[in-house]
Amino acid sequence: KKKIKFKIAADGSSASGKTTGGKLIAKKLKMSFLSSGALYRFCALKIIENNKKYNNKFIYKIVKSITLKKLENKKLYNPEVARLSSIIAKKPFVRNALKNFQKDFIKKSSLVVVEGRDIGSKIMPDADLKLFFTCSVKKKAQRRLLEFKSLNQKISFKQVEKALILRDKEDTKRRISPLIKAKNAVLVDTTKLTIKQMEAKLINLVKNSIKKKYGNL
Ligand code: C5P
Repeated sequence: KKKIKFKIAADGSSASGKTTGGKLIAKKLKMSFLSSGALYRFCALKIIENNKKYNNKFIYKIVKSITLKKLENKKLYNPEVARLSSIIAKKPFVRNALKNFQKDFIKKSSLVVVEGRDIGSKIMPDADLKLFFTCSVKKKAQRRLLEFKSLNQKISFKQVEKALILRDKEDTKRRISPLIKAKNAVLVDTTKLTIKQMEAKLINLVKNSIKKKYGNL
């Protein structure tokens, strides 16, 4: 059996389906998975716990302490954490510290899926497959609202929609590492797809792409 190496970058706006999609691919094809958004959220949470004070040294210390287990903390999905994560994501020293974490993670595994905003463009420009997720704002807000409800967060559809639009605008307009579709990325519009349909589409894309690289395994 051939030893295969395959790296997938999954980028897209907030709630576009990239995390769900990336996790499904990783599970089905036994690849390791990293949500880079969770890294920014983790830093934001620690900053909030530190009375909103942070500097370069603080961030480096935080990043050193990150484990995959810690990234499963439900608190990372609070609206306040989400808001702060996109604010600190504009700081070069935050991005640099997290870039090192991501690069180390990628180096460690031969089969890897990383999701985020700048994975295909900055973190893994050499990815074997780049996916770019999109979805209508209405649909994204509906999905996020359901997630908040399941976490018992009281928030209205309008509030969710407003927060999503604001964060997407900030992520797209920022000067360093903005959300961008890499030239060779495959567009995946999840607006009208059920999770099952999205999964089928993604697995198909990945399998074809692996076949292109290695032929029939
Ligand atoms: O994807 P998620 O919504 O969890 O990301 C939270 C925030 O982290 C985003 O709004 C974005 O500002 C930032 N982020 C980033 N680059 C990434 C992943 C996330 O700037 N690769």
